[in-house]
Amino acid sequence: MSKTALITGASSGIGAVYAQRFAARGHDLVLVARRADRLTDLATQLQQAHGISVRTIVADLSSEDGMATVEAVLRTKTIDILVNNAGMGPIAPTAVMSDADAAATLTLNVTALMRLTRAALPAMRLRKSGAIVNVGSVMAFHALPVSSLYSATKAFVLTWSRGIQQEVKDEGVLVQAVLPAGTITEFYDTAGVPIANFDQSVFMTAEQLVDAALVGLDRGEEVTLPSVHEADLWANYDAARQNLFGGTQNGSPAARYKAA
Ligand SMILES: NC(=O)c1ccc[n+]([C@@H]2O[C@H](COP(=O)([O-])OP(=O)(O)OC[C@H]3O[C@@H](n4cnc5c(N)ncnc54)[C@H](OP(=O)(O)O)[C@@H]3O)[C@@H](O)[C@H]2O)c1
Repeated sequence: MSKTALITGASSGIGAVYAQRFAARGHDLVLVARRADRLTDLATQLQQAHGISVRTIVADLSSEDGMATVEAVLRTKTIDILVNNAGMGPIAPTAVMSDADAAATLTLNVTALMRLTRAALPAMRLRKSGAIVNVGSVMAFHALPVSSLYSATKAFVLTWSRGIQQEVKDEGVLVQAVLPAGTITEFYDTAGVPIANFDQSVFMTAEQLVDAALVGLDRGEEVTLPSVHEADLWANYDAARQNLFGGTQNGSPAARYKAA
């Protein structure tokens, strides 16, 4: 029986490439985004090219209605792969960003990802199979003066994924955190600073990013950093994190905090 993948943010960029790649694998698709015309065009093209079934859901995942609609699908249909990809990141200092952009960024990047993950997990645990791909960012461990909120939301994606990986590790469910660096998509137009303003040498294509992330997924990798050439960089970072946590478990203030 063919698998079904639900992909959020499938109307452009990374999500659209995930849709193409899963369609080529023969998976049926549920594609979610706000732009109905883009979703319909992609669905028609993938149905014709691969003979798969594609359902489109036009939903704003920064709204209660949009989140509830997609949650209901995840709770009532068999979804084998959930790709939490929809995201936004206005490039602006915290005090300057509009209230609407700040609220939408937090809701889309954090609340929607959390709710859809929770909606998908119970059935996957029961079936003892399934995969949740959470698209984070290398900004999960790096904050700039114009990325504070975005970086913090992506830190949530990484930490949330790391915790759930431990919850489901013996239950046949894979949770993969994919952390892209610069990727050529419409993200930067939406963010307010077109991609032409950045050093082009740090960007890869969305196709390169997704193909690398799928190699990681097929290997059962839990954290995938497609642009990191030295795998030890992640291993060392994660070991340092664990050492630091170990160093916090002391039950008394460190000597340097003794009042003078
Ligand atoms: N591009 C990069 O350099 C880069 C780097 C690191 C991480 N990422 C992450 O990669 C993911 C995909 O971004 P991308 O680069 O592919 O950018 P993109 O081309 O702008 O795609 C974003 C997708 O999210 C959807 N989306 C945005 N707001 C939404 C909402 N309120 N409700 C539902 N869907 C919404 C958009 O569709 P509609 O507008 O049609 O709703 C679009 O399909 C994001 O999570 C982003 O943070 C990107």
